[in-house]
Amino acid sequence: MRELHELNIGLALEAAALARTRRRAGVEVAASKSSLVDIVTQADRDVERLVVDRIRAARPDDGILGEEGTSVAGTSGLTWVIDPIDGTVNYFYDIPAYAVSIALVEGDPDPATWHALSGVVVNAATGERFDALRGEGARLDGRPIRVADAVPPATALVGTGFGYDAQRRQRQAAIVQHLIGSVRDIRRIGSAALDLASVAAGRLNAYYEVGLQPWDLAAGALIVEEAGGAVRGWQGAPAGSGFLLAAHPALADDLLELLSPMPIGEV
Ligand code: IPD
Ligand code: CA
Ligand code: CA
Repeated sequence: MRELHELNIGLALEAAALARTRRRAGVEVAASKSSLVDIVTQADRDVERLVVDRIRAARPDDGILGEEGTSVAGTSGLTWVIDPIDGTVNYFYDIPAYAVSIALVEGDPDPATWHALSGVVVNAATGERFDALRGEGARLDGRPIRVADAVPPATALVGTGFGYDAQRRQRQAAIVQHLIGSVRDIRRIGSAALDLASVAAGRLNAYYEVGLQPWDLAAGALIVEEAGGAVRGWQGAPAGSGFLLAAHPALADDLLELLSPMPIGEV
C-alpha cells in the first residue's frame, strides 16, 4: 500500500503543477454543466486526462472514477477517485484555494460502503500537500497533523459549501441561518477537499455540506479520520452525498445535535 500511496502523491503533485501552469496562462470557461454557474474549464478536463493516463499506464486493472466523465470499472477491486480541480470557481477567479484530490478506495466507488486506503489533496495554488495512508496518520507537507481539540459549538469555526442548483442553495442557506447564531463563525472556502484538509490540520473546527459528490470527499474524509477526526452522516447513516460532517468527535456530536431540527434529508 505504501507504494500505491507514493504513486498517489506523485500523481497529485504532477496534476497540481499542470493546473498551476494552466492558471498562469489564463483560464476560460469551456462549458456549463448542471447549471449556468456549474462551470468546467479545459484545464479541469486536461488535468483529469493526465491523471487517468498515468493510472492506466501504472495500474491497468484498477477502476477509475473522475468528475469530468471518467468511469472505468476495474478488476482489482481498487478504484481511483479523482477531482482534478476541486474549487473550479476559485480557479476561474484566481482565488488561491483550489486543489487536486485523489483517493484510492477498496470496494464499490460509493462513499457509503467503500473503504478508503489512500488520500492526497494538493492545493495547486500554494503547493501545500495533505495526505493520509489508512492506519498511518495524516500529514501536511510531510509533518503529522491532528484535528483541533474539542471546543463548544459557540467557539467553533465551521466551514460549509453550497451546490450549484439555485433552489438547493436556498435550502442550504437556511441551514446556515439556523447555525450562525450558535457558532463562532462560518467559512465558505469554495473547495470541499480543502475544507476537509483544513479540519484535519486544525484550521477549521468543523465542516459540513449537503450534496457532495464522491470525488469531493474521498481523499479529504480519510485525511480527517487519520488526523483523529470524525466523519459523520445524517442520523447515523454513513457520510456521503446526502450529508457529511467532519470535526473532532465531541464537537461532531454537539453540531449534529444543533442541526437535528433541520430537514437535512430534504435539502
Ligand atoms: C465544489 C466545491 C465546493 C462545494 C461544492 C463542490 P467543484 O466542487 O468543492 O466547495 O461546495 O459542493 O461541487 O465543482 O469546484 O469541483
Ligand atoms: Ca469538487
Ligand atoms: Ca472539480
